[in-house]
Amino acid sequence: MRILAIETSCDETAIALVEATGRLPALSANRQAARQGLKNPQFKVLKNEISSQIEIHRPYGGVFPALAKREHLKNLPLVLKKISGQPKNLKPDIIAVTVGPGLEPCLWTGINFAKEIKEKYFPGVKIIGANHLEGHLYSFLLTTNYKLQAKNLFPAIALIVSGGHTILLLMKSLTERKKLGETLDDAVGESFDKVARMIDLPYPGGPEIEKLATGGNPDAIKFPRPMLNQKNYNFSFSGLKTSVLYYLRDNPKTNKADIAASFQKAALDVLVAKTTRAAYAFKAKSIFLSGGVAANKELRKTLQATSYKLRANFLAPSMAFNTDNAAMIAVAGYINSLEKKNRRLIANSNLNL
Ligand code: KG4
Ligand code: ZN
Repeated sequence: MRILAIETSCDETAIALVEATGRLPALSANRQAARQGLKNPQFKVLKNEISSQIEIHRPYGGVFPALAKREHLKNLPLVLKKISGQPKNLKPDIIAVTVGPGLEPCLWTGINFAKEIKEKYFPGVKIIGANHLEGHLYSFLLTTNYKLQAKNLFPAIALIVSGGHTILLLMKSLTERKKLGETLDDAVGESFDKVARMIDLPYPGGPEIEKLATGGNPDAIKFPRPMLNQKNYNFSFSGLKTSVLYYLRDNPKTNKADIAASFQKAALDVLVAKTTRAAYAFKAKSIFLSGGVAANKELRKTLQATSYKLRANFLAPSMAFNTDNAAMIAVAGYINSLEKKNRRLIANSNLNL
């Protein structure tokens, strides 16, 4: 099955063409194909283009929705052209487009573009509305040889960490999941972005904090680890952000690298501790990590070491697929189509898992 996928939920305009193992055969065999596909999904990314708006939003220190929408409208046809000068030849079996969560005006640009190109180039091809968070959750499948490990993956604990979400899931299979907890206020990526701003680092702050932290002492300042010792699986990052603000107010001459390293350590400590506790409690055979913050090498390294101790698999997307992209939306769209999940093609900024 060839999936043409479109992602415009935030500040990246992305289109990808992904091939999933096996085209869906004739209707009678559909169920078997679905079972097989959900057991052993295999993907080949044929095209993956992203037009980033980071430079445009940088002066605002965050994403400016009206500007983002305008840029998506301008960039979508250009990105499609990069994928193919002759879109007709792409011959997708389905089109997947992000319907949420995200910025509503931005989501609409993707949905409307999907409808437009369907009419123009791909009449009869079904459009599948995909959940951006499922895209992140499944993004490791783009580069993992899942078939080899299928028997040993579940139950799994999945940590999704992005600019808008911090979610911990228990997964019994690829498609059966239970939310264990999530952030009660700021997302962890958001706290990286806000702390970066306090120490004059550009947007997006996550990679900048990580870079600066390598030259700092993570034990220099004892920032709080919010909710670390609470027995639930929820998170909170707004208090941590505020304590950095107060620390800076009271100690304006502190070395910024120490601030970055100490803040990063505090934030990651909580993520790792709660994920590890969940993995123990549910006897997880794997830990999945995804979302933009999964690009953080310290987080990857620590969770990898935890998984090793637990004799669990550690699965995270390769570096190209942590932050927003359309290849992951193709994977979510493919799995949804096997599940026969039909979402309305309407922007839903609060769509959750
Ligand atoms: O998944 P993503 O691209 O967009 C959302 O769905 O939100 O995540 C973006 C977030 C931003 O907050 C960014 O600062 C953070 O991911 N991020 C990082 C790193 N790279 C990106 N956070 C920490 N360390 C990084 N290396
Ligand atoms: Zn995202």
